[in-house]
Amino acid sequence: MPRTVVITGASSGIGRAAAHLLAEQGAQLVLAARSRETLEQARQECTARGAAAVLAVPTDVADASAVATLFSRAREQFGGVDGVVHAAAVLAYGRFVDVPAEVFDATLATNITGTANVAREAMLQFHTQKTGSLVVVGSVLSKIAAPLMSPYGTSKWAVQGLVRTLQIEARTMPGIEVSLVSPGGVNTPIYDQAGSYTGHPGHPPPPVYSPERVAQRVVHALGHPQRDLNVGFANPLMVLGFRVLPGVFDVLVGPLMRLLGQGRAAVEANAGNVHEPVPGLEGVRGRWPRLWG
Ligand SMILES: NC(=O)c1ccc[n+]([C@@H]2O[C@H](COP(=O)([O-])OP(=O)(O)OC[C@H]3O[C@@H](n4cnc5c(N)ncnc54)[C@H](OP(=O)(O)O)[C@@H]3O)[C@@H](O)[C@H]2O)c1
Repeated sequence: MPRTVVITGASSGIGRAAAHLLAEQGAQLVLAARSRETLEQARQECTARGAAAVLAVPTDVADASAVATLFSRAREQFGGVDGVVHAAAVLAYGRFVDVPAEVFDATLATNITGTANVAREAMLQFHTQKTGSLVVVGSVLSKIAAPLMSPYGTSKWAVQGLVRTLQIEARTMPGIEVSLVSPGGVNTPIYDQAGSYTGHPGHPPPPVYSPERVAQRVVHALGHPQRDLNVGFANPLMVLGFRVLPGVFDVLVGPLMRLLGQGRAAVEANAGNVHEPVPGLEGVRGRWPRLWG
């Protein structure tokens, strides 16, 4: 019997790459994201790659009732859910005071409330079945602070707090596993889709990894749970600097962020895909050619 896996953020980047991998393993997939048209493209790709069955359910993870519907559709179609990959997130750049409040709040709604909505439905489903594996994609920004990324950074610290809490609670639930995967820079469309209030577009900080590499770790974690799986060799160094030498970290992180975390082009202030999807920019990879893995 093939595994049934729900994937959020399945229309782009790491989530779409994870969907491809699981399709190649013959899984039954339930794909979720807001954009109906890119989700349909992802559904066709997964079918072509050998998925046993693929259901695409357009879903805004910030909407609790939509997430409940996503899981009930999965139950109706496949009888249960063995695994959940939660990769949906949005990003907006800008100094805290320059990011409009509604953009800050909407980023938290997708990234924090969305993670809680997905985790709640996953844990309730797993509880009923007495088995299941949830993998949440976090970030190195759950462990350090960077300027110009306050909505995203705040949300990722919250995601880490929630996931670690669920891991501890799951210790009393045999058969139920919760994993966190924490990448650094990954070559996905998130940087071009991001909102920006800095005058410049986003840019992945080096070393930049491929979404396929991160997706491999995510899919592996479904069957081999990880408390916090780092992806990116520079991440532990950044975390060490943040914790052990905070004065030096604070001096360096601003200039480094402007140099390595922002593109040189000029852009008008915009909310990117924070409020609405931008299907034309979605795909597995972004446009940065130099990859470390
Ligand atoms: N790329 C990196 O460098 C990097 C580094 C560290 C961590 N991460 C994390 O990796 C995960 C995947 O990011 P990515 O880089 O693959 O980004 P991406 O290419 O922009 O994909 C994000 C996905 O989330 C979906 N999404 C956004 N808002 C949503 C909402 N409200 N409801 C449902 N789906 C929503 C998007 O589809 P729609 O817009 O159509 O809804 C898209 O499928 C995120 O958690 C991100 O924070 C990425």
